Amino acid sequence: MERLLVTGGAGFIGSNFVHHVVNHTDLHVTVLDKLTYAASRESIAGLPEGRVELVVGDIADDDAVDPLVAAHDAVVHFAAESHNDNSLHDPSPFIRTNILGSYTILEAVRRHDKRLHHVSTDEVYGDLELDDPKRFTEDTPYNPSSPYSASKAGSDHLVRAWVRSFGVRATVSNCSNNYGPWQHIEKFIPRQITNVIDGIRPKLYGSGENVRDWIHADDHSSAVLAILERGRIGETYLIGADGEKNNLEVVRLILRLMGRSEDDFDHVTDRAGHDLRYAIESGKLRQELGWQPRFQDFESGLADTIRWYQEHEDWWRPHKDATEAKYAEKGQ
Ligand code: NAD
Ligand code: TYD
Repeated sequence: MERLLVTGGAGFIGSNFVHHVVNHTDLHVTVLDKLTYAASRESIAGLPEGRVELVVGDIADDDAVDPLVAAHDAVVHFAAESHNDNSLHDPSPFIRTNILGSYTILEAVRRHDKRLHHVSTDEVYGDLELDDPKRFTEDTPYNPSSPYSASKAGSDHLVRAWVRSFGVRATVSNCSNNYGPWQHIEKFIPRQITNVIDGIRPKLYGSGENVRDWIHADDHSSAVLAILERGRIGETYLIGADGEKNNLEVVRLILRLMGRSEDDFDHVTDRAGHDLRYAIESGKLRQELGWQPRFQDFESGLADTIRWYQEHEDWWRPHKDATEAKYAEKGQ
């Protein structure tokens, strides 16, 4: 394997993955990205000359996808509409990109017999009760709650069907919530960090008891690379780093690490259909592929992330007012 096509490589996790691949392999990377509001060219700028190329295009456009897939050895598919709140406001781009776009990628890898890794989310499993001792495993039944998670579930099912019916050489991963550099400030952690920088009180949906299982984006990247290199074709791997925290704990930790009072936040209107808890059992990935997360300590990973947003104000500042105005319209 020499040439890798990475869809969505100018987004949050995709760009972290591109950096990871450049730092840990000799692969040449082509990024296919539509450069939506969620993307940034800067996130993959400045990498070694000749290692990374950006092609601006839509994964739902077969004229763009087909020749690129033909010219590469493998595809890692991150491109998606990724924000639950946006999917509640307008589901249509989620259906188009996440379902039709994934279908377009699948047909191209099928035509050219290329290896595919499909990146997905634990949100396809729905949610768990707060006191449920169980965590999600590869055998948990699908039960998505939002247009976002339903569209990702749809794409996962397409991949499995293309493996079984057409012999496509694909793997799937479902990962928990990521944090780290280059995450759009509409998302929970960077929204609250940039709020505190701006002297705005962090905004907690509802009671704040909802639990997410946090993993650093670089650990997600190392897991995806391990699955691409050593995963068994047709298999699904859950990716998680034992990072369960409720939203209230995360907000308090951000405030403390940024030198503010831990009570300096507001409760705002809850998200419709808000999933209560996600939690990942990642034993299959760890035992089969020997993967381990590098960021075992959420507090120090979060402190690094806070520093990154403090040092990269130029990057997020142009989006802050519009992002907050959108939330303000919904009382959030
Ligand atoms: P993101 O929104 O930050 O980035 C998505 C990227 O895809 C952007 O660069 C965007 O321009 C691109 N894109 C969107 N539509 C496109 C299209 N039609 N054609 C080409 N490119 C297009 O998302 P992210 O948080 O980096 O998530 C990446 C992937 O990881 C998604 O598939 C998501 O479902 C999955 N995932 C995310 C998380 C998380 O916590 N963010 C957790 C688990 C899985
Ligand atoms: P988010 O980052 O949108 O990820 P996801 O919906 O994929 O889990 O939200 C993470 C959690 O934080 C989720 O429970 C919703 C909550 N949340 C808030 O409490 N306040 C906010 O301003 C945002 C954006 C999210």
